Amino acid sequence: MKKQFILWMVLSAFVLVGCTKSSGFQKLDEWTQIWKEGQQTFFGYPANQESALQDFYEWYVGTGMDRVNLNNAGDPMTDEPWNMSTQAFEKEVIEFFTPLYGYDKDDVWGIVTHSGTDGNNHGIYFGANDLYNKTGIRPIVYVSDEAHYSNMRLCDLQNLEVKLIKSDPMGRMIPEELEKALDPTRPALMIYAMGSTFKGAIDDMEALNAVLAKYPDIAVYRHVDAALFGGYLPFTKYQQMVSSKDMHFESIAISGHKFFGIDSPSGLFLCTRKVYDNQHNYNVTYLNGNMKMINCSRDAVQPLKFWWLIQKVGYDQWSKQANGMMECTAYLQNELTKIGWPCWRNEYSNTVFFKRPSPEIYRKYNLALGYDDYFGGELAHVVVMQHVTKEKIDTFIEALKGEISQSN
Ligand SMILES: Cc1ncc(COP(=O)(O)O)c(C=O)c1O
Repeated sequence: MKKQFILWMVLSAFVLVGCTKSSGFQKLDEWTQIWKEGQQTFFGYPANQESALQDFYEWYVGTGMDRVNLNNAGDPMTDEPWNMSTQAFEKEVIEFFTPLYGYDKDDVWGIVTHSGTDGNNHGIYFGANDLYNKTGIRPIVYVSDEAHYSNMRLCDLQNLEVKLIKSDPMGRMIPEELEKALDPTRPALMIYAMGSTFKGAIDDMEALNAVLAKYPDIAVYRHVDAALFGGYLPFTKYQQMVSSKDMHFESIAISGHKFFGIDSPSGLFLCTRKVYDNQHNYNVTYLNGNMKMINCSRDAVQPLKFWWLIQKVGYDQWSKQANGMMECTAYLQNELTKIGWPCWRNEYSNTVFFKRPSPEIYRKYNLALGYDDYFGGELAHVVVMQHVTKEKIDTFIEALKGEISQSN
């Protein structure tokens, strides 16, 4: 205990001399330090560790907004968003992203969500209602066995029948398997994985759409789970991959805390206006609107942060970051190959998966772990986000080289 106290005193002195402010709580200061150090080698999860919100917080506290209780309950996509909320900013956020996801400004609806999962919840719920309201028949959900588990969990929660479609070794839904599973008597609610969580696979939407087109009598709704990839792809030459117009999907969900670097969970959900209009009506006079979205109270600070980042970072910087990430991903794969470390990557992906290194390395770099017999068993991956620079990749490769030379 005494030793711990001395350590804290040293830490507080460091904190006073150096960068951060002591909280006055030993436990909190120690935890902050652990995070500050770990942030530099946080390689395994899709979180941008270079959040650009410092001046946002300065403004927020400086103006006393931290003493205001904010809530975005209600629909932001009206002509007159509620003044005592941040809905006007939320609406502008959706308008900024509308062309990037290939929607028309006259045929779009959207909100800033609490997370990618919240966006998927809306996509699945809106899709099931849309199909039921058109046909009077509950749909079957088709989703690949490599898609993020939140989709299966949400279908369970919404009492929807799910057919898990086998994916190929790289993690993409197999079109022939979808065709075998299709039930021509029920509508199809497709969930396309745009970046499966471990291998970073994108379902081949054009091939899957071609299968569906063979059955014109099946009513179809397509939701895209683009939690991570939906962040950076709009800013690359692959923008059409996330375009509703090109890929013919109705809705899309993206996380705000992944590529965009919002410092806690948030996200975006967009769908066509037609889909929104085809949802159940709950006219709530005291909220000044028809409440079609799932949540009543909604976070009002996250839309402000999104709006702030659009002004301060914006299209050009995000393009630079997205293309830099693609370059660093190719660099990582190349460096792994050079040292003979088995590794794989999907097209368009910023995730490289490879033979799992020792616990010492995967713990230090917070690598996410996976297992697949097809690729030799134990695996790990790196998600190349903005903070995973070439210099840090070099240090990581040196650590792996050390492991190779020890085993020889
Ligand atoms: C493909 C995919 N979908 C959904 C999610 C869930 O997103 P969130 O953590 O924002 O709820 C993740 C999270 O990693 C993901 O990778």
